Amino acid sequence: MSASALFSALTLRGLVLRNRVVLSPMCQYSAVEGLANDWHLAHLGKFATGGMGLVFTEATAVERDGRITHGDLGLWSDAHIEPLARAVRFVKANGAAAGIQIAHAGRKASMQRPWHGNGPLDDTDRARGEDTWNVIAPSAVPLDTGWLVPHAMSLADIARVKAAFVATAKRALDAGFDVAEVHGAHGYLLHEFLSPISNLRTDAYGGSFDNRIRLALEITEAVRAVWPDDRPLFFRVSAVDGVDGGWTLDESVSLARRLKSLGVDVVDCSSGGIAGSATAARIKRFPGFQVPYAAQIRHDVGVPTMAVGLIMEPRMAEDILQRREADLIAIGREALHDPHWALHAEAALGIDNGFATWPPQYGWWLDKRQQALGRTPMA
Ligand SMILES: Cc1cc2nc3c(=O)[nH]c(=O)nc-3n(C[C@H](O)[C@H](O)[C@H](O)COP(=O)(O)O)c2cc1C
Repeated sequence: MSASALFSALTLRGLVLRNRVVLSPMCQYSAVEGLANDWHLAHLGKFATGGMGLVFTEATAVERDGRITHGDLGLWSDAHIEPLARAVRFVKANGAAAGIQIAHAGRKASMQRPWHGNGPLDDTDRARGEDTWNVIAPSAVPLDTGWLVPHAMSLADIARVKAAFVATAKRALDAGFDVAEVHGAHGYLLHEFLSPISNLRTDAYGGSFDNRIRLALEITEAVRAVWPDDRPLFFRVSAVDGVDGGWTLDESVSLARRLKSLGVDVVDCSSGGIAGSATAARIKRFPGFQVPYAAQIRHDVGVPTMAVGLIMEPRMAEDILQRREADLIAIGREALHDPHWALHAEAALGIDNGFATWPPQYGWWLDKRQQALGRTPMA
């Protein structure tokens, strides 16, 4: 039995995660018309063989116009199910649970892939055959100068997007996902409703705190209603905007309380993204910089949280859990750097398993190599 918190199992409803290491959702900008392909199989698959407990897809669009870029994954039609199901089967066959983040890009839709400029689509993209599309948001306020002015959503648009989240959740179930996460962060559609920076509406979906959180709650409730009782539902929040007059940590705490009462099992605590260029850092970044948000929401609301953001060292991940600041640790870029991060972390934390948790295709040989070198396993 390990004394490690990071490598202890976690039960969420009917799902048992083998450990607390989670692949954070990361757009790959590699889909065509939203369809998953071999890249997504290899990308998601390697983190399951790499020992993670839960592997999340990138933000997966609930409708075509809800993609961020032309390369985003989507699940807006039944044709999108099987290519994703293939990756889900591989992830699960290799011991990890499979999660999907369902999302609508709002006013950040119709954007360039990062390596094409990370700005709004322009003539260079059009020349590549990648045109702009209709962009919607709570209010007709663009992200920044030069960005598309979004169409302020009508009540019919709101009803359509809500139905799209529900239909996507049902398809995610058909694809075999264990966990669904509603993307309410990073300046995308639901966050745009939450934040007074982007929500200038005067109807029931804007103004007061209760009005600004209405759409996030309605979507969460509707998704929860179709997502089976034995499967966990996560919600990713940008805990703070980091902008004067923006969304605050107190508001995140109040939102989390409401989400918990609707059956959300984990609040995934990120931050930022509401204003300025899409990747502009408004909040000072350093290892573990978002952990205090996960800790406060967990403490004040009594809801499990996931910490994310520049968590790279296994000892830091372990300490966050030991201090009860979060229940899960999401790893993003460090997992790109080392897809075997979870397996390496087990060794770094002194869990001497002789490669027993590695896939045998690798572990058997690595163990023999250690023995040949006369070293203790993983030393
Ligand atoms: C390539 C890339 C794509 C990302 N795509 C998403 C996404 O689809 N949804 C999301 O919520 N966050 C996304 N993020 C943010 C990550 O999930 C994570 O919160 C962030 O990278 C901070 O964690 P890290 O320091 O461990 O990378 C992305 C980050 C990267 C690097």
